[in-house]
Amino acid sequence: MAGANFSLLLLSLLFSISAFLQIGGGVASSRPRVCVIGGGIAGSSVSHFLKEYSGGAVDDIVILERNGVVGGRMATINLGGDIFEAGGTILHPKNLHALNFTTFLHLQRKVNGAAASSNSNASSPSSSWLGIWDGRGFVFKTLNPPPRSSSAIYKKIHSFLNALLIFRRYGFSLLRMNRFVQRMLERFLLYYKDLASRPVFGSVEDMLKWSDLYGLTRRTLREELADAGLSPLLISELVTVIMRINYGQDVNISGLAGAVSLAGSDPGLWSVEGGNWQIAAGLIKHANASLHLHEEITSISYSGGNYELSSKKGNHYSCGVVVIATPLDELNISFTPSVSIPSRNLQHTHATFVRGLLNPAYFGATSAAEIPNLVGTLEVANIPFSSISVLKIYSEEDKAYKVFSRLPMEDSLLDRIFSARKYTVRINWPAYPHYKAPENFAPYLLDGQHLYYINSFENAASTIETGAVAAENVARLILSRMLDISSSSSNIRTVSSGQRDLHVDL
Ligand SMILES: Cc1cc2nc3c(=O)[nH]c(=O)nc-3n(C[C@H](O)[C@H](O)[C@H](O)COP(=O)(O)OP(=O)(O)OC[C@H]3O[C@@H](n4cnc5c(N)ncnc54)[C@H](O)[C@@H]3O)c2cc1C
Ligand SMILES: *[C@@H]1O[C@H](CO)[C@@H](O)[C@H](O)[C@H]1NC(C)=O
Ligand SMILES: *[C@@H]1O[C@H](CO)[C@@H](O)[C@H](O)[C@H]1NC(C)=O
Ligand SMILES: *[C@@H]1O[C@H](CO)[C@@H](O)[C@H](O)[C@H]1NC(C)=O
Ligand SMILES: *[C@@H]1O[C@H](CO)[C@@H](O)[C@H](O)[C@H]1NC(C)=O
Ligand SMILES: *[C@@H]1O[C@H](CO)[C@@H](O)[C@H](O)[C@H]1NC(C)=O
Repeated sequence: MAGANFSLLLLSLLFSISAFLQIGGGVASSRPRVCVIGGGIAGSSVSHFLKEYSGGAVDDIVILERNGVVGGRMATINLGGDIFEAGGTILHPKNLHALNFTTFLHLQRKVNGAAASSNSNASSPSSSWLGIWDGRGFVFKTLNPPPRSSSAIYKKIHSFLNALLIFRRYGFSLLRMNRFVQRMLERFLLYYKDLASRPVFGSVEDMLKWSDLYGLTRRTLREELADAGLSPLLISELVTVIMRINYGQDVNISGLAGAVSLAGSDPGLWSVEGGNWQIAAGLIKHANASLHLHEEITSISYSGGNYELSSKKGNHYSCGVVVIATPLDELNISFTPSVSIPSRNLQHTHATFVRGLLNPAYFGATSAAEIPNLVGTLEVANIPFSSISVLKIYSEEDKAYKVFSRLPMEDSLLDRIFSARKYTVRINWPAYPHYKAPENFAPYLLDGQHLYYINSFENAASTIETGAVAAENVARLILSRMLDISSSSSNIRTVSSGQRDLHVDL
């Protein structure tokens, strides 16, 4: 017995040395360099977790980012001197990674709808003033917000009356909707369980099946909500409004993406003071990753146990492990050997920021003051926008707005919707997947070697937090496969739900 063990040990030692030399790419380093493509939440958090979970052993992390700033779809814009979130804005109180990052990076949280900073006389709009627009009129409106100076009691009564109004229209279906969302959230919270009781997942499917969320990706939100007993009116109005705001899509989106989007209307939403992108910047710094900005990767080729990355500028990087932390769907990265993933369309969301005033005539109102702070829309042809929200009130005649639409907002169109327009900023986001049911998922591991893809998880849902959750799993997958290589054999084993006992124990 002892003799057999000894020779096994020797064998595995030989294997691990050769494996390390292979991935290390030479004599100079015994640890593989990890190259991460993309400096958004996925790229920054995978760097963080690699460093953290390896106890600092993975210390050669290179991040290649094509923009001049990190954050990706967490970005701010400047509208006439004020800074607003342009992409991923709201975080849920149960987004535990984002909360943790914000705390340990010493960033400040700001709760949605809280008053603007005290050095300004402008005010933040109350986001509870909602109107549902059908292209001709408001089919539903909540009450105008109470004056800012009103008493706490008055504000309580006001919000109670609003709740009553919403209840009168949608009834007990609202409770069923809430239960549907809470059930999804409870399952999602399993991804924060301690490492010992949570497997490393080799695929998105395994990850979703483990928490019992996979079923929600097989059917549309419409089907799921109808089965949950929601009224057709609630689905075609409030639910549709929320889907159009959060994902620019209708209720044919998958049940899971839909449930995540509905959670985005829970109370207690927050964002990072000064911009959510600072989470990415802080994590990258904290992980001591080497960040290369303005570096767009155009090709990835694997040979001799190493990956060679080439950039548009003509730089080359040699890496033992490569992590793709951006959607591949609209990129032209050439892979050698080629990799194949299911095709996926991205939903483009045009975010148009306007400083000025809405035109009351467009909305059949006599004054702009009658138009709610949040105008949601129904799934009706010819409504040229998905939502319009007030971001900041400078005066009754001067406000900052964010318009979401599926198509670009031309000047002529904006001139009909707005009566005054001082500044306009437009962004065309390749925003998130165009969801469908059933969903297909690209693998986390693209080539069976060391090429990983975090954004395959975006077919489940696309949010800041889900980016971090997927990145954490990919970090663990990388480490578990490295350990596999260096400890017992050179065979590469993918961890699947059939091997729940496998986990990184570092
Ligand atoms: C308008 C809008 C509103 C949203 N609202 C919310 C919200 O309220 N709450 C929420 O949680 N989420 C929201 N989201 C979704 C959320 O922003 C994203 O899911 C999340 O930020 C994606 O992070 P990521 O790191 O996976 O990708 P990204 O943030 O897209 O990061 C990818 C990075 O890779 C870089 N890159 C791409 N190609 C290359 C290349 N070839 N070489 C080098 N670098 C490259 C890109 O420049 C980018 O920085 C919203 C998104 C949009 C667009
Ligand atoms: C948040 O951080 C604390 C302490 O650093 C840690 O114990 C906890 O597990 C973290 N939570 C998550 C979800 O990572
Ligand atoms: C969703 O899909 C169904 C069936 O394909 C279709 O009839 C419907 O128009 C689509 N849109 C909405 C909003 O339900
Ligand atoms: C950070 O990385 C650099 C090389 O990129 C290294 O010299 C330095 O020791 C690292 N610092 C820490 C704290 O790990
Ligand atoms: C990718 O290449 C195709 C065909 O060469 C081109 O049409 C497309 O614009 C390119 N996309 C990007 C993002 O460069
Ligand atoms: C805001 O304050 C500035 C001076 O600090 C003043 O000029 C401006 O009129 C004020 N605006 C409103 C709406 O009170």
